[in-house]
This record gives sequence, structure tokens and C-alpha cells, in this order.
Amino acid sequence: MVQLPSKDQKEAIEAVLLHNNKKREEGKCPLAFIVTFGCQQNEADSEKMRGLCDAMGYGRAKTPEESDLILVNTCAIRQHAELKALSTIGRYKHIKTKNPSLIIGVCGCMTAEEHRVDELKHRYPYVDFTTPPSAIGRIPALLDAVLRCRHRYFLLNEQSDALEGLPIARTVPHRAWVSIMYGCNNFCSYCIVPYVRGRERSRARASIVNEVKALLAGGAKEITLLGQNVNSYKSDVDFPTLLEELDGLEGEFILRFMTSHPKDVSSRLIEVVAKGKHIEPHFHLPLQSGSDRILKEMNRHYDKKRYLSVASALKQAKPDIVLTSDIIVGFPGETEEDFEETLSVVRQVEFDSVFSFIYSPRKGTPAAKMEEQVPPHIQSERFARLVALQNDIGKEKNMLYEGRAVRVLVDCLSKNDPEIYSGRTDGGKLVHLRATRDDIGQFVTVHIERAATFELFGSIVK
Ligand code: SAH
Ligand code: SF4
Ligand code: F3S
Repeated sequence: MVQLPSKDQKEAIEAVLLHNNKKREEGKCPLAFIVTFGCQQNEADSEKMRGLCDAMGYGRAKTPEESDLILVNTCAIRQHAELKALSTIGRYKHIKTKNPSLIIGVCGCMTAEEHRVDELKHRYPYVDFTTPPSAIGRIPALLDAVLRCRHRYFLLNEQSDALEGLPIARTVPHRAWVSIMYGCNNFCSYCIVPYVRGRERSRARASIVNEVKALLAGGAKEITLLGQNVNSYKSDVDFPTLLEELDGLEGEFILRFMTSHPKDVSSRLIEVVAKGKHIEPHFHLPLQSGSDRILKEMNRHYDKKRYLSVASALKQAKPDIVLTSDIIVGFPGETEEDFEETLSVVRQVEFDSVFSFIYSPRKGTPAAKMEEQVPPHIQSERFARLVALQNDIGKEKNMLYEGRAVRVLVDCLSKNDPEIYSGRTDGGKLVHLRATRDDIGQFVTVHIERAATFELFGSIVK
């Protein structure tokens, strides 16, 4: 591998900007295209990548074909996510053949895995550079180097501090992701995240508070605090105190946060959520499994009893709270009895919605080496049963909204019908409604007329 020249970020941004300005003078406006896979953390990272591209003088490409730079922000959480990213990168080969000056950079969690970087290096020779999530701030230096000498660069996963000071280009002005911490220390036995995102780093309290204040002053209506396990946020204050401080800010806004870990939900956090003025009446509390034996194998540090007690404390503190969860089906060694335990928790808690996943072995994690991998046909059969049960519960919970008036933050047009807009209730439920362009980014009161399994339908109450 060729050594990356050590240009600092500011110098590199200026060098690429100079190059792009020259192109513009020649009549060609350089354009960048960013594709994002994975979770909200990646969405937030892509907004930083877009911020860097803006600073370097790239315009926004509508298609990969018209681009001078393509950045693929990948996810490694399940095999399917990696295959999707690889097949997308594969499709760019012919674009590069037609336009050899195109630069292709692969970023995100997959590029923190050595075997995937090897694969990109050898089987995707048209990829110019890779950079793991901890090093997206080095994208300008990489671009500058590629533009000058056309070498290929593959950055290693290095531990860095919490990413501070990168420019951010928000996708929609009324909604903002705010990363409060990076990485994860939990090492759940199935999960790749601690390996690809590194150890936990919390941002300084003041920097978060200032960012949120500036966002609110700029018109943001929804702030989502992000971290793999926000409950373990730690600076000079802990998470409940940070949340409380942000909740005390002036303005009309909704404050969301994710993800919480059941082992770290304190009674103080529940109290802060219950009393909150702006805090969403929603709690995403990943269960993963309802079987104590499997939870132990997963290294989750809670049991079914603890989980149920947190869920019921939340419901008691805020009776209208929307509870959502993540569940993994077919973890190694999961028996029919273990799976029944999961179904029983689902019946007991009555989640509003659940993201269900079939277990996917991740190279380098302890669970991938466990002997009793569950056969795919059993995984699929259990997955279908879980989804059917949850769909019934979700529909019933949504039906309770029929006839009610709820506050909704209006987002955008529905993909299928130009008359219909979408939005989210304070609890995070998806609503389709008749609205106008002026309503986008505004809170409105919506009368819910009809409920379906995954969404509500209604119209604005004038
Ligand atoms: N930090 C968050 C979520 C991380 S990933 C948390 O702890 O809840 C989002 C979800 O993906 C996880 O909650 C889990 O349900 C699922 N997941 C993670 N690794 C997986 C794997 N190897 N196979 C299937 N699902 C997985
Ligand atoms: Fe993965 Fe567990 Fe960390 Fe969540 S808490 S990111 S599931 S290791
Ligand atoms: Fe995927 Fe990385 Fe998020 S692995 S789920 S993009 S933290």
C-alpha cells in the first residue's frame, strides 16, 4: 500500500477545492454522489461526508453516471447488508470504464473489516480508496492524493476521538441527527459493531448542547441523539442529565434518542423521560431474545425478568409510551423452547413495532464460532411466526389511534401518491396525511381516520 501523504484536513480541502474550481473554469462542474447503507449513525456520517464534499466544491449528482466522485457508505451488520453494498459497488465498474477520471471511495463499517478491504483491493480494482468510519475526516486528504498521483489507498481502522468539527450538510432542515457518542463497548457475541466502530467515545457535553441550540435556532424541529448505547454516554455528566438539559431548551421541538440498552436503563432516565417537555413518548428497547440462556450466550447482561421490569416501569411512568424493539431469531443453539420464551415476551410487552432479524454470522465474533448454528429453514420458520404475531399486535395497537387527534411533524410527499404526505407522531409512528408543501417541517394536529399494521392515515385538523 502506498503511504498517504500527511496533509492536514484544511489544506487538503483547499487543494481539492482548487482543483474543482479549475474544472469549473473549464466549464465542467464536478459532482459527487453519496450512497448510504445501514443505520442512522451511517446517515449521520453521510451528512458529514456531504458537508466535506460541499466544502471541497463538489456539486450534487443526481445519478452515479454523471458523477466525478462516488462515495459508498457501507454497513456490516448482517451478510445481506454487505452483499448489497458489494453489488452496488460492482455496478459502478462500467461507469468507471466509460469515465476513467471518476473517483470511487468506499467508506463505512465494511471497510473496517480486513477481509473486506482485501476483497475490495483485489476484486474491485476500480475502487480508488477505502476509509473506515473513524477516519471519514481523512476523505479530503485521500481525494487530494488520488487526484495528484492516482495511487490506491486503503486506510486501516484506527481508533480516533469522537469526530468533532466536520462540516455537516443536513438532508432535511427540520430533522437533525446529533451523534453524542461513537463506538460500543458491549461486545454482544453476535455483533460486529464494536470491531468496526471501535471503543466508546462520548462527545463533550458543551459541544452537544451548542450544536442542538444552533440547530433549534436554525429551525430544526426534530433532534435525534445517536449512539450505539446512548445510556452509557459519559462526559462530565451522564445521559439522563444531558437529556434533561436539552429538554430544558426553548422552542417547539421533539427530542429523540437511540439506542438504549436494557442493562443500562436507570430509574432516573425513566423519570426524565416521563417528565420531559420535548422528549419523545417513545422508547426503543432492543430485546434480542426472551430466553435467559440465549441472552447469556449473547452476552447481553440482563435477563427476561429485568427486561420485563424495565418495560413495565416505562409503561407505568408514561402510559401512552410507544415501545419498539429489535429481536434476533435463530441465534446459535436457540431451541424451540428458547424461541417460545421470545414470543411470550412479545405477547406480554405488546410492542408497537419490532425490527426482527434472522441471525447472520459475522466473521471474528464469538457467536460465529459457536457450534450449534440453527439451520436456515428453522430460522425462516421462526422468523415468519414472530413477524405474524407482532403484526397482529402492532395492528391492534395502531387501531387504538383511530378517531384520535395527534401531533405530527410533516415530512415529505409519499412516494406513491403526490397528494399524500408522510410524517411522524411524537411517539414516532408513521402517518400518511393530506397536506400541502407549506406543511413540510411543521407540527400539525392530525385526526387519525384509519390504522394499518405499519402506519396510520389521517387529515389535518384546522
Ligand atoms: N446498538 C444497538 C443496535 C445495533 S445494530 C443495540 O444494541 O441495540 C441493530 C440491530 O441489528 C441489533 O439490535 C440486532 O437486533 C441486530 N443485529 C446485530 N448483529 C446482528 C447479527 N449478527 N445478525 C442479525 N442481527 C443482528
Ligand atoms: Fe452491537 Fe451490542 Fe453494541 Fe448494540 S450494544 S452495537 S448489539 S455490541
Ligand atoms: Fe451497520 Fe455500522 Fe450501523 S455495521 S448498523 S452502519 S454501526
